[in-house]
Amino acid sequence: MTTTSTPHIDPQGVEIAETILLPGDPLRAKFIAETYLDDIRCFNEVRNMLGFTGTYQGRPVSVMGTGMGIPSISLYSYELIHHFGVKNLIRVGTCGAMQENMDLYDVVIAQGASTDSNYLDQFKLPGQWAPLSSYRLLEQAKRIADERGHRTHVGNVLSSDVFYSADPEALSRWMKMGILAVEMESAGLFANAAAAGVDALAIFTVSDQIVTNAKTTPAERQTAFTAMIEIALELA
Ligand code: HPA
Repeated sequence: MTTTSTPHIDPQGVEIAETILLPGDPLRAKFIAETYLDDIRCFNEVRNMLGFTGTYQGRPVSVMGTGMGIPSISLYSYELIHHFGVKNLIRVGTCGAMQENMDLYDVVIAQGASTDSNYLDQFKLPGQWAPLSSYRLLEQAKRIADERGHRTHVGNVLSSDVFYSADPEALSRWMKMGILAVEMESAGLFANAAAAGVDALAIFTVSDQIVTNAKTTPAERQTAFTAMIEIALELA
């Protein structure tokens, strides 16, 4: 299965583990590798989309940036799955909370990812398909979050192509359908995983509260990430 290199990933002989954490920011991938993993080796520098393989409590795990948006995470996840044999893809990121009962730093686990993107059209399904995360990973992540005492919300997120929207009512319509939070990648990841028969999950830290307009600072985000990353690593 393993290809030597793809247009966007050139591991130069470094293995990529079957389980990978996928933050949007490549420097966050470096931070996760340096902070949590042992015996790390860099497996990608193409376009500075840094990827590392190491061990967590003795188990092999990789971590790699995805960039922002469905096109970016989709091409990296496609290559990881189809060319490097990755089986468990766990996005870790921030999200904007869209329900009133959610606070900054709460953990959100995506059960599904609705989207305003056209990415799913390529699968030519005779109807609307619901991109879901892996129940196996979801159930384990929720149990780990509960054991650790984190305030956790599980449900449907919105993977939006639009950060600065021309339609001021768009988000409130999604809110009325019970969407917990907005981010920009998970629907592409879940679709690629489902089409290939592998497992994917997305775990978030609330960085913005869209209903109350509360926001974290960039410095606060760094520390707030810890809970989410540790849950993801426990899945490896
Ligand atoms: N929109 C999209 N993605 C995000 C947001 C947001 O408000 N906050 C964190 N990721």
